[in-house]
Order: sequence, then C-alpha cells, then structure tokens
Amino acid sequence: MKYQNFYKNSIENPEEFWAEQANQLEWFKAPEQIISKDKYNYTQWFSDGQLNLSYLCIDKHINAGFGAQDAIVYDSPVTHTKQHISFNQLHHEVSKLAGGIQDLGLQKGDTCIIYMPMIPQALYAMLACARIGVIHSVVFGGFAPHELAIRIDDCKPKLIITASNGIEIERIIPYKPFVDEALVKAMNKPKHVIVFDRELGVEIPKKNYDVDYLTLVDKSPSIEAVSLESTHPSYILYTSGTTGTPKGIIRDTGGYATALKFSMKYIYGLNEGEAFWAASDVGWVVGHSYIVYGPLLNRNTTILFEGKPIKTPDASTFWRVISEHNVKVMFTAPTAIRAIKKEDPTGHMIKRFDLSCLKYQFLAGERCDVATLNWTEEKLNVPVIDHWWQTESGWPMLANMVGVGLQPVKPGSAGLPVCGYDIQILNEEGDVVKDNVEGYVAVKLPLPPGTLSNLWGNPERFKFGYLNRFPGYYFSGDGGYKDEDGYVFITGRVDDIINVAGHRLSTAEMEEIVASHKAVAECAVFGVHCELKGQKPLGLVVLKSGETLDNRVIQKEIIQDVRKEIGAVASFRDVLVVDRLPKTRSGKILRKLLRNIADERQYNIPSTIDDVTIIEEIKTKYQTHHIGIYK
Ligand code: COA
Ligand code: AMP
Repeated sequence: MKYQNFYKNSIENPEEFWAEQANQLEWFKAPEQIISKDKYNYTQWFSDGQLNLSYLCIDKHINAGFGAQDAIVYDSPVTHTKQHISFNQLHHEVSKLAGGIQDLGLQKGDTCIIYMPMIPQALYAMLACARIGVIHSVVFGGFAPHELAIRIDDCKPKLIITASNGIEIERIIPYKPFVDEALVKAMNKPKHVIVFDRELGVEIPKKNYDVDYLTLVDKSPSIEAVSLESTHPSYILYTSGTTGTPKGIIRDTGGYATALKFSMKYIYGLNEGEAFWAASDVGWVVGHSYIVYGPLLNRNTTILFEGKPIKTPDASTFWRVISEHNVKVMFTAPTAIRAIKKEDPTGHMIKRFDLSCLKYQFLAGERCDVATLNWTEEKLNVPVIDHWWQTESGWPMLANMVGVGLQPVKPGSAGLPVCGYDIQILNEEGDVVKDNVEGYVAVKLPLPPGTLSNLWGNPERFKFGYLNRFPGYYFSGDGGYKDEDGYVFITGRVDDIINVAGHRLSTAEMEEIVASHKAVAECAVFGVHCELKGQKPLGLVVLKSGETLDNRVIQKEIIQDVRKEIGAVASFRDVLVVDRLPKTRSGKILRKLLRNIADERQYNIPSTIDDVTIIEEIKTKYQTHHIGIYK
C-alpha cells in the first residue's frame, strides 16, 4: 500500500526522505547537512541551508509568473468586507512594511509581538517580520492585557504591531487599549507600537510610542527578503503548559517550510493554485501553519475569515464561504461544527449552496466525537478527516494522508501516524503497550522537520517537559491507544491542560488566579464536559473560615478575576463553593476524581483518600448546580 511504504520509508530513512522533501523548496543555499545536533544535543534540520519564508510565500510565485493569482481572500462578515489580494499586492504590502520595521531599528534576531484581529495586516506583519529575520510572536486577541504582558516580558519585543480594534459578535474588542494596558504592567517596554487604525469610529487614546501603520508603510522602502539560516527561529508561539507560565514554542525556518510544503500536498491533498481554508485564528498554531505559511508556501489561495461559524450572520456562513471562494479543502474545530449543528440540525442551510468544490473536511484542535464526525460526513458528503497535532509539532502528527491516498476513516480515531512521526503508546515505565491498551502518546526521536526546536529562554523546561519523562521519546501530554490496524485514538490530556472550544488552556493558571481571591482558602480548577465546547473549566472553592461575603458575590468576583487576567477566551463561568475538597492523606487534591464525578464517568475511589464522605457532598453540589451531565 502506498501510504504504508511511504510512511515506513520516512521512519527508516529520515535523512533521505526529508532531503528529498526539502528539495521541493527554493533555497538560497541548499542544505547538505540534513540532520545534526544543536548545542543542547537536540535534533536540528538542514542546519547549513539558507532560505526565507517570506520569499517562498510571495516572491517565488511572482517570479514563476503567478503574481496575479489570489494569495489571500479576506472575507469578513463582521465588517461586510470581501477583498482579493494577489501575490503582487501581497508583495507590495509586505516588502514595504518590512522596510518600515527595519526603519524603526529592528534587525534579524530581534523579536516583535503581533496582537491583531483577523485582518490582512496581521498576515502582512507576520510575513514582513519573516522577510527580515525578525522573530514574531503572535498573541491571540482573546487573551487579556495581563497575558499579553507576560508574553512581552518573556520575549522582550522591540516592537508591537496591533490594530485599533477587533470585532466579536456584537462587541468591539479594544486591541490597542489592551496593548497600552499590557505595557503599563510589563517590565519590558518596546519603543514603538505600530497601530493599524480600522476606522471603526471608536476613539483610541494616542500614546508617544504609537506609529501609524499606513503612514509608515507609505513612506518606507520595499525590502528584499534576507537569506536566513534554516535554524533561525521564524517565530515564538506561546502555549499553555502545566504551570501558570505559558511556554514559548520556538519554530525554525527550513524544517518548518519543508514540513508545511510536504503537508499541503500529502496530508491535505492540495495542488498549487487551489483554495484552502483553515477557519481558525492567526493567534493559534493552526493559523500560523495553515492560514499563513502552509498555503502560501504551496501557492494556494488562503481564506482569511473574520467571523464565527454562527451568528455572523447565521449558521450558513461556512457553506457560503466554501462555495463562494471555491474552497477545495477546509479545516475547522469540531466545536464549530457542533455550534452549526445546534442551529441547523437538519443541515437545510447547507443545501442552499453548491459545495461541489469541497473535497475534504478536516477537523482538529480537540477530540472529535463520533456524532459530530458522522453528522458532518452525512451533510457534506465528503470524507471528514479528524487529525491530531499540537502547537509543539506545528503540523499534523496523526491524520489520513489523503494526498498519498485516502485510507478508511475510523470514527473516533485521529488516524494513522503521519510520515516522520514514529508514534508509540507507552506505559508508566516507558514500555510500548499492546494494541488497544491505553497509555501515554509519545513520539520516538528524532522528531521530523517543522516541530519545536526549543522553548524560548527555557531549555531546561523543554527537556523536563517533553524529553525526560520517556528517554528517547517526545512526550505529547496526551493519552490514547492504537488499534490492531495502527489507528490511534486520542483520549485526552493526561495533565492539567484543558481544551475549551479548541482553545488550549491551563487549569493551573486559572487555579492561581482563583486562589489569589481574598476569600478563598483553597481551590481546584479542572475541565468538565461541555456539549458545545468539548470541555469547560469548573472551579471548586473552599472559603476561609469566618468569610462573611455573600457566596454569589464571591463567585462573581472570581469569574471576573479570571476573565480580567486570562481573558474572555478562558470561558470560565462556573464556580461552586464547597465545604471541603477530596484529598489524599498526604494533602493532594483528587482532581481526576472530581472530574470523573462531574462527567459521570466510572471512577475508583483511591484508597489514599482521607475522607470518603466528601464524595457524596460534591455529587450533591454538582447536581444542584447543574454541572456536567446533570445539565
Ligand atoms: N478576540 C477577543 N475575544 C475573543 C476572541 C478574539 N479573537 N475569540 C473569542 N473571544 C471571546 C468571545 O467573544 C467570548 O466572549 P464572551 O465570554 O464575552 O462571550 C469568549 O472569548 C469565549 O469565546 P469562544 O470560546 O470562542 O465562545 P463563543 O461563544 O464566542 O463561540 C464558537 C463559540 C463555537 C462559535 C467558537 O468557539 C468557535 O468558533 N470555535 C471554533 C474554535 C476554533 O476555531 N479553534 C481554533 C483551533 S483549530
Ligand atoms: P494546541 O497546542 O492548542 O493545538 O492543542 C493541542 C492539544 O489539543 C493536543 O495535545 C490534544 O490534547 C488536543 N487535540 C488537538 N487535536 C486533537 C484531535 N484531533 N483529537 C484529540 N485531541 C486533539
């Protein structure tokens, strides 16, 4: 079988396999060294090669005669805008913005934070940074100023690029004021903030550090793409870890470009010139890899959608976009489909559009329940492919590689290992388990090109978090099992990370905020099942003795604190006041037990529990407050 041989070859002969894939790119200097080790003894790819992502995404296609092709279609139901941006126009915008960034004093190796809504300027900013070797770090707009400040202090940007506002359903998001607030909190203050004014009629206070985006671009020279080492970090992308501090995933340049180009063809099955749509946000890894770099590297038209699956204006939006922009392959999160299905259960809105252009619907970002997969398949009448990956990997680790040949779809499974990923299920001791036995999902080293090269400023955490647990493997943090045909089923995180509407969040971080409320003696925050968002966070709090404030006031304040510190994206809306928390005799809170009770899953009461009567108390609380399955 083609997939089996192709995959086997990638695992048995990684150097040859990836050298051949790297050849699909136009390098300024082709690599001779395919795999080598960095100073931390970790794998690096194509270390002596030189290239530029911005060049490969733009200039290369213009040179090949495709300057007039649509590079980006910006479709914004929230502003009633549609804009077609050709590679020629993209070149103009990006090369001049790069000139402006350079004029502000940034050089190769400097960092720049991008905090922007889903507008073309966000893509221009990323590509302009990549053009001159400035390492960008895009921060998702749903994060509050406090989170932005943490990232500013970690990567110490010389520049921030933002926009005046974003638009959520019936709400204007004050992006620039959030940046101002973050800069008050941050220790590190960049000299300049480039502001793209969307002219939405909302007054934005001016600051001394403001630089007007359009004026800067207007007066700046066009800049050629510089030649960068393959190992040069193209970006830092922060993601939730198991502590309160986010981790800055570092992505290289040459390995990333090779992997993305490969994935567009072999995973998503796209030819150059076709349209691809990832309905995500540029603030997430999906946005980096499959709204910006992947499709543009492969000369696909990328759809930049500023809206939601529902309410912008209704549950037919996705189908309109697919049909109107001739989308061949679409990618979204199961949550989005669940939201649509809730509004349009019979799928009658789908029938209003000619979707014959659509060949595959990909889903990822969270576990895909079988009902959602089946509904999508039935209504769209195309293969629906669940696939699994993470910010760390940068591109899919499990999928159905439709470009190699569609394999049978097994509902509930995220598919088969993608080329380059030797995925194994390990037990506590690090031994490979038998088929159908659940364990820890790990990937045998070396990881293929495009995966994380380290954590920004924290190589110890990189080793500790991913490599030390199972020597010789990368540990994903997910649990799962493999069936007798090699299909992998991801069962969920085995740590304190939860997945809310496809957004990865740390309960440890929420717990720190809840615990800091003056009335709280102790607390636990964990994820419970949510019909729409997959999971949602729930906080259980024990109050300090003698606390006189009304419980409802405390609950409201805690919810507000989390929203203010992390942001609306946390979807933290449930807090229960309880008398006690179940703990082991050594004082460890039994979070897994709490979660299992809420979701009415089978649970064993650990023999180490200090007081078994708490369980009934907690159950009653859940029941009276309609948490989890009691809804
Ligand atoms: N900027 C500012 N705020 C944002 C934001 C952004 N970019 N994205 C989300 N938020 C806010 C929302 O407005 C919401 O605020 P609210 O509490 O005031 O209502 C909050 O964060 C939670 O957002 P979300 O979890 O997205 O819920 P929702 O109710 O607004 O929408 C869905 C529900 C299902 C429509 C939405 O979650 C969705 O489209 N999911 C798809 C997920 C996805 O694409 N994930 C990417 C990974 S592939
Ligand atoms: P992120 O880094 O934000 O992309 O989140 C990665 C995490 O999301 C993974 O570690 C998984 O827990 C979860 N995830 C992503 N895709 C899937 C999938 N297809 N099935 C199950 N879980 C998934």
